[in-house]
Amino acid sequence: MKILVTGGAGFIGSNFIHHILKKYPASTAGGPDYKIVNLDVLTYAGNLENLKEPENNPNYEFIKGDITDRDLVNRLIKDIDIIVNFAAESHVDRSILDSSDFIRTNILGTHVLLEAAKNNENKRFHHISTDEVFGSLGSNDSPFNENTPYDPRSPYSASKAASDHLVRAYYHTYGLPATISNCSNNYGLYQFPEKLIPLFVTNLIEGEKIPLYGDGMNVRDWLHVEDHCEAIDLIIHKGRVGETYCVGGDSEKTNKEITHKILELMGKGEEMIEFVKDRPGHDKRYAIDFSKIREELGWKPKITFEEGLKKTVDWYKDNESWWKNIKSGEYEKYYKKQYGKN
Ligand code: NAD
Ligand code: DAU
Repeated sequence: MKILVTGGAGFIGSNFIHHILKKYPASTAGGPDYKIVNLDVLTYAGNLENLKEPENNPNYEFIKGDITDRDLVNRLIKDIDIIVNFAAESHVDRSILDSSDFIRTNILGTHVLLEAAKNNENKRFHHISTDEVFGSLGSNDSPFNENTPYDPRSPYSASKAASDHLVRAYYHTYGLPATISNCSNNYGLYQFPEKLIPLFVTNLIEGEKIPLYGDGMNVRDWLHVEDHCEAIDLIIHKGRVGETYCVGGDSEKTNKEITHKILELMGKGEEMIEFVKDRPGHDKRYAIDFSKIREELGWKPKITFEEGLKKTVDWYKDNESWWKNIKSGEYEKYYKKQYGKN
């Protein structure tokens, strides 16, 4: 199987590449069974340091390029069996500052990929989406499932919702064999330190305060990235085309709870918390009912939040060289814009 992974130098994409190459190693007798082509333009979030191991693997190839580049995508897709589309602008706060790149990559980029897939014998397509397309839940509402109506509320989630609609439209109109997965908040190794967990962990290592938005009572469901990769693996092999699968971590937590767990693991006190201005339009709660993928494909999350968070904290402690440069470079520039500092 030859897989075109888009956005494979980012957080989830790189974990997925590690997952596939490890789970399906080259067969010695019959040659390689799985080949991955990673198409990534390397935005601030793309990092080839995430992919040191696969670098010399004959089953892996990296191509620096943009998913909105029609000619390149059309050329690459010719001998591909399946496209797994991770490429996106993924950070909600950045979409609030400026959503132009979100519209370009998330919507136009997905459209370019879909057109290329359609025009090249209707290639199998899997699209990685988010639970944020469903909007915000009240504390007593039932979790999102595959039938929840779309109600995106940030520029990021609106761009992801638009791309999901395009994927479904290509399935219905052209018979494109497509699937979509909508998952909750991922955490784990190689996550860019602008997101809640790696930001808080790396700030604490550096002795800096941790900025908790609003009252800290917003709720997210946390999914370890390795469990997510296992779910995508199952969907691309056994999922029914035309279907959507919701993928959740069975681990709803308030941001305050997460903060306290991180503080405890790192031996720091509450005085490190700085309550800051809330995110505009901050969705209150996300939660996922993943019974469809559990019943159809036998998937459920295996990594408990406690175990996954400890592993993640330890990894950031042991891999300062991975994040130090990012933090003093790209993240610093963004932080100044975000907090209006020069
Ligand atoms: P990320 O920001 O870490 O990585 C995105 C990758 O896409 C980067 O390597 C970047 O260079 C690449 N990219 C961006 N624009 C591109 C373009 N025009 N052409 C080619 N490559 C481009 O993102 P992530 O957290 O790994 O998220 C991956 C996918 O999963 C996204 O589609 C995101 O919406 C979705 N998702 C993420 C989460 C999460 O918690 N991180 C949860 C649900 C869904
Ligand atoms: O739910 C899936 C989504 O999860 C993905 O689609 C997105 O790509 C991914 O970025 C993530 O979005 P969130 O906005 O939920 O993630 P983030 O890590 O930015 O924030 C998590 C929660 O923590 C949210 O309620 C905002 C809060 N927060 C975040 C940051 C960065 C803080 O309180 N302080 C912070 O500094």
